[in-house]
Amino acid sequence: MDARIALATPLSQRRPDDFARDMIAGLSKTPKEISCKYFYDAEGSRLFEAICDLPEYYPTRTETALLKTHAEEIAALIGPEAEIVEFGAGALAKVRLLLDALDRPRGYTPIDISGDYLMEVTRQLAADYPALALNPLAADFTLKLAIPAMPGARRRAGFFPGSTIGNFRPDGAAALLRQMRASLNGGGLLIGVDLVKDPARLHAAYNDPAGITAAFNRHLLLRANRELGANFDPQAFAHYAPYNVALHRVEMYLVSLKRQAVTLAGRRFEFAAGEPVHTEDSHKYTPDGFREMAARAGFAPRAMWRDADGLFSLHWLESA
Ligand code: TRP
Repeated sequence: MDARIALATPLSQRRPDDFARDMIAGLSKTPKEISCKYFYDAEGSRLFEAICDLPEYYPTRTETALLKTHAEEIAALIGPEAEIVEFGAGALAKVRLLLDALDRPRGYTPIDISGDYLMEVTRQLAADYPALALNPLAADFTLKLAIPAMPGARRRAGFFPGSTIGNFRPDGAAALLRQMRASLNGGGLLIGVDLVKDPARLHAAYNDPAGITAAFNRHLLLRANRELGANFDPQAFAHYAPYNVALHRVEMYLVSLKRQAVTLAGRRFEFAAGEPVHTEDSHKYTPDGFREMAARAGFAPRAMWRDADGLFSLHWLESA
């Protein structure tokens, strides 16, 4: 094992019963819901990587191209001898483009809720970047985090790609940006934001004919079966992900295909035929709409890059 990488979990976040408690709370609501953070165990993270490779799912490809095209300009804005903190780091693929362009990067702190997956991908990254200090954190990045400074780093920069910010309601998103700003010690944030566009294009991205997104959505139910002893029949729930034009967001649901009951952690939950369980929102922004929100969170928007088709944006925000 690489001596540089020890997986840390903040003490304040070691609460193994969260999944059961959150499932019970979410299924007791009207309408029912399941928190989207439970998508991402090791298997869920792999399913999400498969979504990123889908021809219809343009965000990953477009954001990666933006990072490649503008890497030098981005690296100059971040500056030399920086440490990067990535929120919801996933497969650690995009950060490589950043690390390769930066002038002598000193450290990298990937934060992800899936500890096993994070450890596996950090080991692979370590082999390719022998001089980089690594500090993987298995944590829910939406909770307050004290991120230890990397020795020798001159500045810290945040990295939050994938339009994960869109998975929060606008007020929650602004609060999260504010909290990230506090944890960056005066450093800036490089953030990927999906843009408002033709609803048909959005619909296609979240309703692939291969059924990968549906499998990812249903993975929540399989995970509850495996980890909480629930008895969901995943095929008795449909994946449904319409674009809400008025609210600029894709809304994802699992819809009960019949009247049924499920037991979970000793409780019984009833589902009517056609009843939705809300699992995720993915908000889309205009460039100005996002910049206004960033400004409300105390950031000064300094640069933005967009692809020629206006599908996706990357923003560099400085601490105001
Ligand atoms: N951040 C991604 C997005 O909003 C997450 C995502 C993409 C997702 N496809 C999904 C989450 C399908 C759940 C199901 O685009």
